[in-house]
Amino acid sequence: MSTRAIRRREFLTTSATALGALSLAPRTARALSANQVLRTAHIGVGGMGRADLRDVASHPQVEVAALCDVDAGRLATALQDYPQAESFADYRELLDQLGDKIDAVVVSTPDHTHAPAALRAMKAGKPVYCQKPLTHEVSEARRMREVAEEKGLVTQMGVQIHSAAPYRRAVKMIQSGAVGKVSEVHAWSNKNWGMDSSELPPVAPVPETLDWDLWLGVAQERSFVPGIYHPAQWRRMIDFGTGTLGDMGVHIFDTPYCALELTAPNWVKTTCRPPTGLGHPTKNLVEYEFPGTKFTTDTLTWKWYDGQYAPPADLEVPLPPESQLPGQGSLFIGQEGMLLLPHVAEAVLLPQENFADYQPPEAGGANHYHQWVDACLGNGESSMPFSLAGPLTEALLLGVVANRFPDTKLVWDAEAMKVTNLEEANALLSREYRQEFGGVPTT
Ligand SMILES: NC(=O)c1ccc[n+]([C@@H]2O[C@H](COP(=O)([O-])OP(=O)(O)OC[C@H]3O[C@@H](n4cnc5c(N)ncnc54)[C@H](O)[C@@H]3O)[C@@H](O)[C@H]2O)c1
Repeated sequence: MSTRAIRRREFLTTSATALGALSLAPRTARALSANQVLRTAHIGVGGMGRADLRDVASHPQVEVAALCDVDAGRLATALQDYPQAESFADYRELLDQLGDKIDAVVVSTPDHTHAPAALRAMKAGKPVYCQKPLTHEVSEARRMREVAEEKGLVTQMGVQIHSAAPYRRAVKMIQSGAVGKVSEVHAWSNKNWGMDSSELPPVAPVPETLDWDLWLGVAQERSFVPGIYHPAQWRRMIDFGTGTLGDMGVHIFDTPYCALELTAPNWVKTTCRPPTGLGHPTKNLVEYEFPGTKFTTDTLTWKWYDGQYAPPADLEVPLPPESQLPGQGSLFIGQEGMLLLPHVAEAVLLPQENFADYQPPEAGGANHYHQWVDACLGNGESSMPFSLAGPLTEALLLGVVANRFPDTKLVWDAEAMKVTNLEEANALLSREYRQEFGGVPTT
């Protein structure tokens, strides 16, 4: 391997957070030549993947080297914009065949394929940008964090608004004590990514452009049903998506989680309809208790409301006259006031008359995608590395697991990665990968 190749590899594997103090610090990495490029491979290029592709590629030092999609129609559309890229239907072939011809990987597939694809890429030493929620299973989120750390890779979860100015400012407001220590967070989305029916519509032939077996990936085989899985509707289904909590909750939970420096919950309980074995419930009330931090009271209560539970109806919020809670957002209840953070807009301190003289802190926004590309090239750090995205996703997914045991408090031991009071729940922390598809390399 040439010196240049070794250097490129070293820069790319410098972790944003865990290894930030090592000698390969961003300053050293600036010695990269001005024409250094990051050759990216994109897995899933329709839907959000198309936006991810465009936004990563808008960085002047990115060269799109490979595109992969199991839907030939979506792949063809993306190829029109990047005709020089190599194309694949199977991400395993992409990673095996391209090897050192790619530097970094973007994963924008449905949730159940995040970990299998991203772990394979990381095992091959590639930095990864992975869509949210980081994984479908709690155990996969733990593994993603561990592998990123073991390999010292630059990683980023796709919560782009994490880098937006309103959210950054809200973090500063909370951490500077604008509303005092926080005792409760209420967060909600009136979206409705569930399916309550206990029966599926009739099966139909797989669309000609879709490779259904590759779409299923590590999930167990089943027949194609239009309008249920591909595209986008898989969110509603327990085997593929994570309901509204996994979908919008990651964005909305992100700011409270980071601002309050939360860790793993003590327990979680979901109120919803009984499980059907098919779809996530369309309305959920999820309660968490977190251990206290320096920004909270002794413990923190966090409540999530979605579907028709949102926005919360029984909260007494001193809103300005003629205003109402937004359809999506969060409310921090502190000892000295409240902070309302609509999704996505500037935070409002309440009651407003108590904060008439308050000067919000300065906070600039950043491009979440470019931040990751820059970090891959040794310049700066990513702000949502898997060391942070992993624990955030684990906490969130526990609320999703709890929708299978309505009204039951699941007591969580994060270190042992175990629900301590309900053995059945532990079976839902991971999934058995379909043998014929092949798992993730273990070394
Ligand atoms: N950050 C955000 O704001 C945001 C917004 C929307 C979606 N998302 C996330 O993006 C991901 C995709 O969501 P979507 O709404 O675009 O879904 P989608 O079903 O519309 O698109 C998924 C794309 O991935 C392709 N795909 C599926 N399995 C694949 C595989 N094994 N290999 C390669 N390609 C595969 C599909 O053909 C499709 O083109 C999800 O994780 C979702 O949570 C994030």
